[in-house]
Amino acid sequence: MSPLIVALDFAQAEPALALAKQLGCERCRIKIGKELFTRCGPALVEQLVKEGFEIFLDLKYHDIPNTVAQACLAAADLGVWMINVHALGGRDMLLAAREALEKRSHRPLLVAVTILTSLQRFDLYAIGLHGLLEENVLRLARLSNACGLDGIVCSPHEIVLIRQAVDNNFKLVTPGIRPLNSSNDDQKRVMTPAEALKLGANYLVVGRPVTAAPEPLQALLEIEASLSKNNNQ
Ligand code: C5P
Repeated sequence: MSPLIVALDFAQAEPALALAKQLGCERCRIKIGKELFTRCGPALVEQLVKEGFEIFLDLKYHDIPNTVAQACLAAADLGVWMINVHALGGRDMLLAAREALEKRSHRPLLVAVTILTSLQRFDLYAIGLHGLLEENVLRLARLSNACGLDGIVCSPHEIVLIRQAVDNNFKLVTPGIRPLNSSNDDQKRVMTPAEALKLGANYLVVGRPVTAAPEPLQALLEIEASLSKNNNQ
């Protein structure tokens, strides 16, 4: 299976299902975020799982430990492949999430968001997080690793910094991926899929370069080809 996860950022089930079908569950995994989930609910997730897709349910849980643990179990019941929480929920919340999932024979991967990439240093200062942004990201990556999570979501520009600070099998999931010659949209610091993989990313989240392409399947195949070309070099 390729490392590509396509972000299905749609407001309705029909176009999301149609696109997923066109791409095929053997070719990529699918990310479902807050908008599509809030509009279409668990039924859409279950349908995609039934059709064979491995789903990253990107709901970024952040609440008291018991509530997050129960939400993680509810997500696991949907049969998804990966879920996430905010590392800022703290050690007890991270441990509660991990421990709840451990009781399952078939559990989703559990990854954490460190610092949202939309935040800058002065935003962190305003919420009481001092120090450089990178220091905050690194501290939360280490905490997530120490709490036994499977990985984190991070910017491709943070891969090198984090890789040397965490276990080898700790997964790095990176959005902000743009193939050469494609629009950056609203992403500020992007990287090509091949570069991100080479630096040590495990999974690449790609949205609009595929979903907004005139030929989404073709766009996905081209990204895949750029990866194998890079691997063969
Ligand atoms: O269309 P694009 O490739 O920019 O989509 C990236 C996806 O990854 C979106 O679903 C976005 O919400 C998500 N994401 C991100 N940056 C983060 C975390 C998640 O772009 N730091």
